[in-house]
Amino acid sequence: MIRPIQEADKGRVKVLMRALWPDQDVSSDLDDTIFVWEEPDGRLGGFISAAVRPWVEGADAAPCPHIEGWYVEPDLRKRGIGRALVAAVEQWAREQGFQELTSDVEMESAGSLAAHQALGFEPTEQIQYFRKKL
Ligand SMILES: CC(C)(COP(=O)(O)OP(=O)(O)OC[C@H]1O[C@@H](n2cnc3c(N)ncnc32)[C@H](O)[C@@H]1OP(=O)(O)O)[C@@H](O)C(=O)NCCC(=O)NCCS
Repeated sequence: MIRPIQEADKGRVKVLMRALWPDQDVSSDLDDTIFVWEEPDGRLGGFISAAVRPWVEGADAAPCPHIEGWYVEPDLRKRGIGRALVAAVEQWAREQGFQELTSDVEMESAGSLAAHQALGFEPTEQIQYFRKKL
């Protein structure tokens, strides 16, 4: 089942976040709005996190709710859990009065690109980040 995160879930959600973002300190990501997927045996097998960003590239309105993290454990994928997690965030965003939800995906993540399109997200901007050592 899908439910909002509870205090006792935070350690496990951190583990899931580290699986999604191995190079990132995930402490502050726990401050986002988070829903989790709980298996019948109590195991948490996925999460989605969202935040209202002041503005999002390609969105019609600002501020805009944005999916920050979306992860389902490999053995639980392709069963509709990801879709249910997105539906929970859509409902949360509608309840806040928003009419649009955004997300972003690295271009090499073919599965995530396909999943977003299957769930009705339309591609907007494509941006190349740059850096220069100073
Ligand atoms: C992306 C992710 C969360 C999807 O979770 P999931 O539980 O497998 O998603 P669902 O089973 O609900 O699938 C939702 C839709 O996306 C499609 N889809 C999911 N994974 C797909 C893939 N690898 N290739 C093509 N389509 C895919 C499904 O077919 C489904 O569409 P349908 O209902 O029309 O058949 C999961 O694959 C994941 O955690 N991936 C690794 C992390 C990641 O890339 N996160 C997103 C970063 S932005």
